[in-house]
Amino acid sequence: MKALFVDACVREQSRTRTLCEAYMRKHWMGPDTEIRRLELCHEKLLPLNGERLRQRDSDIAAGNFASGEYRYAREFAEAEEILIGAPYWDCSFPALLKIWLERVCVNGIAFRYGEDGRPVKVCACNKLIVITTAGGYLGEHSSLESYWRELCGLFGIPELRFYKAEGLDIQGSDPQAILQGTAALFGA
Ligand SMILES: Cc1cc2nc3c(=O)[nH]c(=O)nc-3n(C[C@H](O)[C@H](O)[C@H](O)COP(=O)(O)O)c2cc1C
Repeated sequence: MKALFVDACVREQSRTRTLCEAYMRKHWMGPDTEIRRLELCHEKLLPLNGERLRQRDSDIAAGNFASGEYRYAREFAEAEEILIGAPYWDCSFPALLKIWLERVCVNGIAFRYGEDGRPVKVCACNKLIVITTAGGYLGEHSSLESYWRELCGLFGIPELRFYKAEGLDIQGSDPQAILQGTAALFGA
């Protein structure tokens, strides 16, 4: 099984990453699982600007995806399970992860549109796991989980598992117990 871990954790002592490691120890340790790790902090990720968008549009029109620019989209498309670890920042996640997603969402590699204008599944992924940790609580209007669900719809990924550990930075909280409680939800 080809698995991809997208590490969007920024702090060295990231608790989100610790949870992801626990998830991988529990679910991805079989001899038939090949894990590819992508540490976004170590990547040179630039957002699309006018020039990069024009280039991408012409590559998509020509079906020319030979450039290293499309490495992230190819890695994404090949993975059968994808784990994304990202702390809850500013009611969302670090900008690095959004830029990675921009690089992944290439029409013709990660998905494509059918003649009826609806997305058609191209990627191999059947399960997306998202793990986040928050200093406080995701608000009642938080769109984070539905954002990931919507992306699964675009890619045709049938299963989303969304795990959150909340209230870690609240005075008097017991972060270790909270993290253990979240890990227990995925059996670790
Ligand atoms: C830049 C930044 C933005 C943050 N924004 C939020 C936020 O909007 N809501 C919240 O509850 N916690 C927020 N926090 C706290 C983090 O969610 C919390 O400390 C989290 O556990 C960090 O994960 P980590 O240990 O993996 O780095 C923020 C922290 C940072 C550094």
